[in-house]
Amino acid sequence: MEPINQLIQRNRHWAQRVKRDNPTLFEELARGQAPDYIWIGCADSRDPPNVIADLGPGEIFVHRNVANLAVPGDLNCMSAIYFAVVVLKVPHVVVCGHYRCGGVEAVVEDQPLGVVDRWLHPLSQLYDAHRLKLDRIEDIHEREDRLCELNVIHQVRNVCSMPAVRDAWTHGRKPAVHGLMYRLDDGLLHDLNISVNATEQVEDTIRAAIDRVLGDDANGS
Ligand code: CO
Repeated sequence: MEPINQLIQRNRHWAQRVKRDNPTLFEELARGQAPDYIWIGCADSRDPPNVIADLGPGEIFVHRNVANLAVPGDLNCMSAIYFAVVVLKVPHVVVCGHYRCGGVEAVVEDQPLGVVDRWLHPLSQLYDAHRLKLDRIEDIHEREDRLCELNVIHQVRNVCSMPAVRDAWTHGRKPAVHGLMYRLDDGLLHDLNISVNATEQVEDTIRAAIDRVLGDDANGS
């Protein structure tokens, strides 16, 4: 069978199964959505948010791109966050990165990826900013893992600076912004413990998280 027909056939089976398990779900979803989360994740085929967080249709609003970037000025990402936070009033914004991210590997290993190099420029800048410490890590996978984490921390800071989030915080709504990491080799999500829901929490939380990743924690924890 043609791959595209396989997709359609799998969809028919899925829709039948969903309808059998929850006969009114499609009618409810056709009336509107009220997800609890917006997820900013990597486009990688191995970390589909609905699947790894075990959520059904209507439960998570999703924006994905190469290397889970949330760059201020990216109209696509800013629109998704605006729609979720301002229109749908989602209470949780999740930035999720994953280890072994091809975007991060391309930056650290200096692999040319055509037009993607331009997209990954903010990630290159982030690598440069922490290069002295990162390049001291001999194992390249470990170095890349740390940049994967720094990237999520940095994108959480970016999300917190976006007008949709800042305005919500200023006007008394408290959408929380979270940073998670996903491991491909065991299918588990890990909390980077950088959840914030107020402007004054952001810089201290981000700075402490960067110190934890780069091993600068004064308490040694
Ligand atoms: Co990736």
